Amino acid sequence: MNTEGSTIAVELNGIEKRFPGVIANHDVTLIVRSGTIHAIVGENGAGKSTLMNTLYGMHQPDAGTITVNGVEQHFKSPSDAIAVGIGMVHQHFMLADNFTVLENIILGAEPTHLGVLSIGDARKRITEIAAASGTHVDLDALVSDLGVGQRQRVEILKVLFRGARILILDEPTAVLVPQEVDELFTTLRHLVDDGATIIFISHKLDEVLAVSDEITVIRDGTTVTTVLPRDVNRATLGELMVGAELPSPEGRESQVGTTVLLKVQGLTVGSGGQRKTVDDVSFAVHQAEIVGIAGVEGNGQFELCEAILGLTAISAGSVEIGEHDVTSSSTRERKSVGVSYIPFDRHREGLMLTSPLWENTLLGREGEPRFVRGPLVNTAEAHRDCNEIIDRFDVMTPSEIVPVFALSGGNQQKLLVGRELSNNPKILIAAHPTRGVDIGAQAAIWAELRRARDEGLAVVLISADLDELIGLSDTILVMYDGRITATLDPATATPKMLGTFMTGGKQEVA
Ligand SMILES: Nc1ncnc2c1ncn2[C@@H]1O[C@H](COP(=O)(O)OP(=O)(O)O)[C@@H](O)[C@H]1O
Ligand SMILES: [Mg+2]
Repeated sequence: MNTEGSTIAVELNGIEKRFPGVIANHDVTLIVRSGTIHAIVGENGAGKSTLMNTLYGMHQPDAGTITVNGVEQHFKSPSDAIAVGIGMVHQHFMLADNFTVLENIILGAEPTHLGVLSIGDARKRITEIAAASGTHVDLDALVSDLGVGQRQRVEILKVLFRGARILILDEPTAVLVPQEVDELFTTLRHLVDDGATIIFISHKLDEVLAVSDEITVIRDGTTVTTVLPRDVNRATLGELMVGAELPSPEGRESQVGTTVLLKVQGLTVGSGGQRKTVDDVSFAVHQAEIVGIAGVEGNGQFELCEAILGLTAISAGSVEIGEHDVTSSSTRERKSVGVSYIPFDRHREGLMLTSPLWENTLLGREGEPRFVRGPLVNTAEAHRDCNEIIDRFDVMTPSEIVPVFALSGGNQQKLLVGRELSNNPKILIAAHPTRGVDIGAQAAIWAELRRARDEGLAVVLISADLDELIGLSDTILVMYDGRITATLDPATATPKMLGTFMTGGKQEVA
């Protein structure tokens, strides 16, 4: 692609956007050339979504100008943006489940755009658009029957059907497996070859480098720079993004122990007419071992963790923790023999948002002798302990007495991980331990997980971040439709291999 002298599709100048107490964007400058794929990268909370929502007319900037195809615009709502050919696919899809793909695409399209188009005409036009962009999806399927990748295609078709020539995609690959990512990028290439302009947000640097014509880095609400992929690599781009060196999950030199600390045999959740969410799952985790579990969300990982913890009823199988058969033990009993849990949803299950940090770090550990003073809680010790976690996990907070909701997501997660590791557990069930946290917090959490593992901790690691799984695990299991369908050595596994098994591919048995 020749970036010199090409026309400019979008120009943002001096954009500022404030929310109460937050400056989400300030002094943002962005130039997106027509017919290119332009990536926006930045850490969580950098202001990427806010900027794109502003371009899409979802909110009005407090300062700055938006120019589209040479004309300055003052969008009052997304329909103004759609009218000049801008379309957006959001991070969370907005489809109606009980309607067909065709109905969803037509649903809510501006009548002015549609004119008097009949359903038959609409079907014909959508089929043409789909063919031209290489976006294959059954127009008569119910949306509720579609997987995530297909839903995303429907969202894209919906936007194209509304006449978008400038497409904004907010973290489109976050929910996809590698194969689906490849298909998406093929579609995006088709679209730019056809003259469309793509702006896509991501924080996965490898894919950004592979697919973009230009990359704009946003940090702390403002643009740092715009670069060409050939002028940067993963490390330098990461440094621009965080303003520091990028951590990597590599560097495994574990010494997996011989003692089995967690043994799961024939574990099954759901029976009879019910769908089995966990189906005859067996595996063992040794001392000083991280067993990673890969899987597309909803393939039984959540239920498996709950079954191990005694939070859900099982229909068959057994769970042993060290010497203890805990199959019929309560969650409290399991925790007391040394199981810790970093839950899937830290807000619902892990933290009390309106309570101070020190009460949160005490949660679940009130019974430890050092926190007990007669009939009371030894609050001085609880405060001291909380400060120790704050120091060790580098939690950014003014003090241990502020409520948890005052912290950023990454700092909340560091506090939670800190608490769970402070129990001196034998076994840790860690669900998405770094989901939604910034790169600095991710590095801190990786380091602590690795350190605890090296000291003997047995870890079950659930993660959607395949690089994290490969980088931290000693063994990787793939879970598909409730079963363990593959066992892989992280030394040789690639994200692509994992993706194949995660979508139902079978492992060759040697
Ligand atoms: N509607 C909103 N109200 C208040 N604060 C918001 C809103 N949307 C975003 N923010 C804040 O603006 C900042 C940037 O957020 P966002 O644009 O979502 O970042 P990114 O997409 O890069 O992760 C964050 O501090 C976020 O909490
Ligand atoms: Mg965002």
